[in-house]
Amino acid sequence: MTAGKTYHIEIWGCQMNVADAAAAARRLESLGYTEVPDPADADLVLLETCCVREKPEHKVYSRLGELRRFKEARPGMKLGVCGCMAEKEGRTILRHAPFVDLVIGPRRLARLPEILAELAESDEPLVETGVDGEPEPEDAQDFSRYTRAGEIKAFVNIIEGCNYRCAYCIVPAVRGAFSSRAPDAVADEVRRLVDAGVREVTLLGQSVLAYGRDRGKAFDIVTLFAQLQEIEGLARIRFTTNHPLEVTDRIIDAVAAMPKVMEHFHMPIQAGEDSLLTAMKRGYTVARYAELLGRIRARIPGVSVTSDVIVGFPGETDAIFETCLETYARLRFDQQFMFVYSPRPGTPAATRPDQVPPAVRVARMQRLVELQNAISTAITAAAAGQTFDVLVEGPSERDPARYAGRARNDKAMVFTAEQGPRRGELVRVVAEQGHLWGCSGRLAAR
Ligand code: SAH
Ligand code: SF4
Ligand code: F3S
Repeated sequence: MTAGKTYHIEIWGCQMNVADAAAAARRLESLGYTEVPDPADADLVLLETCCVREKPEHKVYSRLGELRRFKEARPGMKLGVCGCMAEKEGRTILRHAPFVDLVIGPRRLARLPEILAELAESDEPLVETGVDGEPEPEDAQDFSRYTRAGEIKAFVNIIEGCNYRCAYCIVPAVRGAFSSRAPDAVADEVRRLVDAGVREVTLLGQSVLAYGRDRGKAFDIVTLFAQLQEIEGLARIRFTTNHPLEVTDRIIDAVAAMPKVMEHFHMPIQAGEDSLLTAMKRGYTVARYAELLGRIRARIPGVSVTSDVIVGFPGETDAIFETCLETYARLRFDQQFMFVYSPRPGTPAATRPDQVPPAVRVARMQRLVELQNAISTAITAAAAGQTFDVLVEGPSERDPARYAGRARNDKAMVFTAEQGPRRGELVRVVAEQGHLWGCSGRLAAR
């Protein structure tokens, strides 16, 4: 028996990894492990890793170097690498970090209990990777166990993998093919989370609006929204990421009409010029994206639209970059997550001869950040005087005398209140001032 053992998980990737870490924790707790906040006290330390760009990979290797010292001080401690970089690097991780005991790709995580049992039998490191074969089993374990007391928001993975082949992206190679979880399994997980105190769930997938596509026409994201809306105690449903090709009128109308579905689309444009979009294999033009954005904004009052964008993709000349900036200035995203292009091994874009020199990529990034910051700040400033429904998350980290939460459209709100609202409560907040990060304001008179 493993009862009495302790574990610690660190997350170095996106929300997918947050959901995977919760799944790993669930499995460990069913084996009798308990979580500890300090890796130095853990019998098992797992890193959930990312490989979408090069930098996070370097960070993981240097973190492994630090964790090695804890391992030396605590005989018997096992150190594991999970997540996307585990899939990409496989055995290579053992070459760089021979003290690592286990390497598990995202599509193999369900095998964690067996892997730990095998590890207990031998001192040899174990590597379990591969993206083919069975999707994660929909196990009916107690999902609520991982949700810490007081947690009000949770991520729920509803799709594994991705069937797009964007020319820069390594995600399909490390997460495998698109596969939807059954709606009942999703609803079951959400119900358990709500029972444990969760008020808001974010449904996750690389192209989340394509949910159900692989399972015939029996269900789709809209029928899932409808099913989840029925769950009593659940206040808010969010969903990400949205590929522009998947956004239909049916979905837009559902987001507009369904009270528990939040008015926010994270819909990455990736580039603001057509030759780049074609080379990226995104499947839409700037004009088509702009038309879609216009439709979303026209039909959903108060909606916010955020985006991801890559700077310095191969073939991006000075003139093309200027066109991109003009596009972003015109489309006015509420916020953009801006990434410097990072060539990923095995992706078609990585071997193109027309790479943009790194210094140019970085210089362009600075201009883009300036532009987007000005737009974001102008948008939040324009919200001053308006009243928002806010889900209270607790005292603000910036200023513990104030409270923090998010509006329906995902804008961060920090506000004053004479009588402290409870975590998880829905309140009305009047925005008084816009900032880059969101709005500050005060609790509205009830
Ligand atoms: N499935 C999501 C994106 C997942 S990856 C979607 O299609 O929208 C998150 C973001 O990382 C991407 O939107 C993209 O902007 C960025 N990204 C992916 N590969 C990259 C690379 N090689 N270099 C820089 N940024 C990259
Ligand atoms: Fe990557 Fe494109 Fe799939 Fe997103 S849609 S995960 S960017 S291949
Ligand atoms: Fe997420 Fe990074 Fe994997 S962005 S899907 S953890 S490669």
